[in-house]
Amino acid sequence: MSDAIAASVPTRLGSNAGQPMSRRDGVAKVTGTAAYAADNRPEGCLHAVTATAPVARGRIVSLDVAAARAYPGVVEVWTHENRPDLAGDPDAKPFPFAFKIDALQSDRIRYAGQPIALVVAETLEAATEAARLLSPQVEAETPRLGFEGGEPFAPDSVGVGSPPSHAVGDAPGALEAAPNRLEGTWETPDQYHNAMEPHAVVAEWDGDRLTLDMPNQAPVMARPMFARFFGIPPENILVRTPFLGGGFGSKAIPTGPYVLAILAARALGRPVKYVFRREQMYGPTGHRGGTRQTLRLGMDDEGRLTALAHHADSLTSSFDEFLEPAANVSKNLYAAPNLLVTHRGVRVDKGTPMAMRAPGEASGSAALECAVDEAAWAMRMDPLEFRLRNYADRDPATGLPFSSKALRECYAEAARTFGWEKRPLEPRSLTDAQGRLLGWGMGTAQFPATFFAAQARATLRADGTALVETSGVDMGQGAWTALAQIAADGLGLDIDQVEFRSGSSDLPDAGIAGGSGHTATAGAALHAAGSDAIGRLTELAVNDPESPLFGAGNSGVEARAGRLHRRDDDSRSESYAEILARAGQEILVGEGSSSRPESAAEAHAFFSHGAIFAETAVDPDLGQVRVTRMVGAFAAGRIINPKLARSQLEGGMIWGLSFALHEAAVHDPVTGRIANADLAGYHVPVHADIPAMTVLTVHEDDPHVNALGVKGVGELAISGAAGAIANAIWHATGRRPRKFPIHLETLI
Ligand code: MOS
Repeated sequence: MSDAIAASVPTRLGSNAGQPMSRRDGVAKVTGTAAYAADNRPEGCLHAVTATAPVARGRIVSLDVAAARAYPGVVEVWTHENRPDLAGDPDAKPFPFAFKIDALQSDRIRYAGQPIALVVAETLEAATEAARLLSPQVEAETPRLGFEGGEPFAPDSVGVGSPPSHAVGDAPGALEAAPNRLEGTWETPDQYHNAMEPHAVVAEWDGDRLTLDMPNQAPVMARPMFARFFGIPPENILVRTPFLGGGFGSKAIPTGPYVLAILAARALGRPVKYVFRREQMYGPTGHRGGTRQTLRLGMDDEGRLTALAHHADSLTSSFDEFLEPAANVSKNLYAAPNLLVTHRGVRVDKGTPMAMRAPGEASGSAALECAVDEAAWAMRMDPLEFRLRNYADRDPATGLPFSSKALRECYAEAARTFGWEKRPLEPRSLTDAQGRLLGWGMGTAQFPATFFAAQARATLRADGTALVETSGVDMGQGAWTALAQIAADGLGLDIDQVEFRSGSSDLPDAGIAGGSGHTATAGAALHAAGSDAIGRLTELAVNDPESPLFGAGNSGVEARAGRLHRRDDDSRSESYAEILARAGQEILVGEGSSSRPESAAEAHAFFSHGAIFAETAVDPDLGQVRVTRMVGAFAAGRIINPKLARSQLEGGMIWGLSFALHEAAVHDPVTGRIANADLAGYHVPVHADIPAMTVLTVHEDDPHVNALGVKGVGELAISGAAGAIANAIWHATGRRPRKFPIHLETLI
């Protein structure tokens, strides 16, 4: 724990945090008793279904509304011609972190899968059939789907508000002067989030108050986005997300079909349920936009980078702006004195991309780590030695020191565990017993240690137990458990004595479960709330002549296992319940908040790091690739729950494998539709694809990053993993993959 906490409050992190506890929601989730948004069935609930655009670009000519209306059980059919008014413009962007949405505002088709009509009926079956009867007639235009034919533009920002370019020194000049140069271009595809739980909303109005059961990564933040469409204050909206079956960024921001279903509930005066069909999540709910990235590296004769230039073209929609910030990863990783990072947007006829699993780092590090591997080979250097020679002891983009950086230790631990020292430099040097070509490759993982703002409340109860509340959401990553561990430590209680309530917008705002910052951010607020409660309890005790703690002073007391102890005489103690009873208090409420002061960002660069090593086996005749081993070592500050952290990191490496070998949306060039818009056609790894995986964590004490010293592990391990696999494939085959996912036909 940080000294700051130790000095100021009588509680500390330690007895619950650090324990490898199992998920507290695990049994409910795997036995089906956990109620997800779409499991809610309010009385009189209607069902909404959307019809979607069959082409990516063009105009709606007609819809057979009469046929849909005539279907038994149908209550309402809306198209762009009769949809009731919304209070806000769907084509406006009120916050940078918002979608421009499709809410039947015109006859224009902007992407395949765009909602073009809403049918509401008494049953899901009736709504589904009536939507089918709409049989849209469209005027189709040739869709623009890729970098050729798309419309390039210079963006104002990339990702969520980062500058589109960054320069240190003179990279073009240094490249010109470099005795050794390497240049390459890598392509990454459109990828889709594919959370297990579909997007869904159950909307119910009571006058001008609105209750929404919906999966969302930020229940409080979702409210103003809806409020503007319905002309009500955000406080009138209750968003409930007790369980979330995966988000990956796609459930960070509400989108068009949600708004239509809520509008229907108001217009029809009954609750409405809308559940996105799997294929309907390929369009309006965001995706990772494809990139084409060019890297240029200049090196001296010892393999020291003299220049690093990373440019990314990123695809986006024709009407909105989100751009995968792919090149940004090169700002902070390797010590190139001359650095140039640039982005360009390319407009195509697809839905708007959005943050997805390490937005920027996943795709950017795939290209960067391949380029670094090629550069190492060009210098005939071991790839690890090359990375160590270019190790950044300060942040290359800003010159600031890192708040902590145990990447060297990660490299060493992972390399030792993997057996890297036995790696021959030459490709095509190793085979296995089946005659397959074996290759060993590596990549560096890096992710910003983000910290947002959060609030929390801790209520001590007369029986000595506590209720802890925050709006934060468990996406499936285990937040409900890790945050409860932190909260219990803040209160000096065992986790079983703490009731933990979260996932609802009427609780103190915990911000977003995203950016890998949720445990740190919400955790710090929870710890502070607990400390506040214990501080108030201490006041009661030390000022009460009847207490054994009388006169000990606020800092002379320690909270442990539901009792306050004197620091100068541990045997003199009193339980929380006794203190409250004598003070005549039924409850005692503590409040906490967290945020990172601006001055902190001026003093340090905050990142978590890791090293990932992979072994691949490639069939020399068929080109078929199997990943046979992966080892990752990660440094991410304090680990709150080693079991859950390992799952997160393993999951990240699996998503990296998925990036390298599996995931891509395939578009029909004629209609622009996605041909594999389901979990059968959109490949993600299954058990048989996943090799033996070793996840190591490296100890890291970080007194600067935040009060808890937690950096976050959610997205870290996807970065670097795809590159490690691509590099292993090169080492096996001598072929340099330049396009993700890597397909066997490029390897033979
Ligand atoms: Mo995310 S892509 O941090 O929800």
